[in-house]
Amino acid sequence: MKKPILKMENQKPSFNRRKFLTNAAKIAGVGAAGYIYIRGCNNDDKPIAVPPPIIQHEFLTQPYLHTLDNKQMYIRWITNRNCYSWVEYGEATALDKKIHAVTDGLVNANNRVHEIVLDDLVPGKTYQYRVASKEIRRWDEDVAVFGETIYGKTYTFKTIADDTDEVNLLVLNDLHDTPSSFPHLLKLNGSDPYDLVFLNGDMFNYQKGEEQIINHLITPCTNGFAIQKPMLFVRGNHELRGPFAHQLKDYFSYPQGYYFHFQCGPVFAIALDTGEDKEDDRPVYAGLAAFDAFREKQAVWLEKLMQSEAYRNARYKVVFMHIPPFYSNDAHGSMHSRKLFSPLFDQYKVDLVVCGHTHVHGVHPPVKDQHDYPIIIGGGPKPGTRTLIKINASQQELKVQMLDDTGKEVGKYSIK
Ligand SMILES: [Fe+2]
Repeated sequence: MKKPILKMENQKPSFNRRKFLTNAAKIAGVGAAGYIYIRGCNNDDKPIAVPPPIIQHEFLTQPYLHTLDNKQMYIRWITNRNCYSWVEYGEATALDKKIHAVTDGLVNANNRVHEIVLDDLVPGKTYQYRVASKEIRRWDEDVAVFGETIYGKTYTFKTIADDTDEVNLLVLNDLHDTPSSFPHLLKLNGSDPYDLVFLNGDMFNYQKGEEQIINHLITPCTNGFAIQKPMLFVRGNHELRGPFAHQLKDYFSYPQGYYFHFQCGPVFAIALDTGEDKEDDRPVYAGLAAFDAFREKQAVWLEKLMQSEAYRNARYKVVFMHIPPFYSNDAHGSMHSRKLFSPLFDQYKVDLVVCGHTHVHGVHPPVKDQHDYPIIIGGGPKPGTRTLIKINASQQELKVQMLDDTGKEVGKYSIK
């Protein structure tokens, strides 16, 4: 008598992956990572990638970090099967703590995209961590039947000290689905220290599915830095497009939402989500855009934030936003952002605004009667137009340096 494949819960199922993929390819199309593209599953018949249902339990990504607070770290990763997951972590060489996520009394499980928050961290400390995912092989009525547990490698990260005098931020923007640009541009930083990497929008052309998010962003970031340094990501107008745009928040941590603030060393940073570039009622958005109200809500939030003691006392006030308030075209999103945000930047004395979107890099000092703050705009996605922006902030000076993709300095700015 034949054994049922899933009878032994602690053994890997007998499975011929090559045979499965060959058969799957006959009925659909199979991509490089074993993803299956099923046609006709959305209205316009464009393929959407879904993970293959039967392959060995494995990680689809390494862990990637995110934080807006030096006492917390958000750790995310993706598995190919539904799991119960946790993180083991500790100071120095120990992995003596274990934490899982709980939502409304129920321990997070039966999911593939994992987010665990370490929220008892001490600023200025180095931590070790590793992720773990125990497969949920099936449910016997209402009881989970577990399978194999897989563990990630042990990595380290360091929280930023409260009294740190100096921080270094790297900024990438407008890479538009070119994963090879991540290692190329990050390499230009050489061995200079940095604390986090800010992704300033339009990292994709439009959102197609999970495989795109993994291959075009998460994997190049984890290969480059994100297993050890936080990655902060504000949406550009292109992240708002496509069938998977509504799922973006499932893959990246936004503890405050898509617009947010954070403090690191002498920098009080604000990230604004500038939304789409055209009017909400343009036919191209099919009635699914409502960014006027979204920007107006942010302006209310922004003014309140700028009245806070933390903002007022900060040495430098830096804003990140994808669409620049000036030096773009006169499209609605740009003009609306200018109308709502620029007067607040002037009134509350923002020191620096860092943008993308135009694909033309530039350093624009303050201009009387237009904007009292400098605007730095990063380059575009094509070789020859790409840039890496480096921000170094100490108590004495905030320095911005922009490198083109040959490593040549193409812009700089200093605030003393
Ligand atoms: Fe853009």
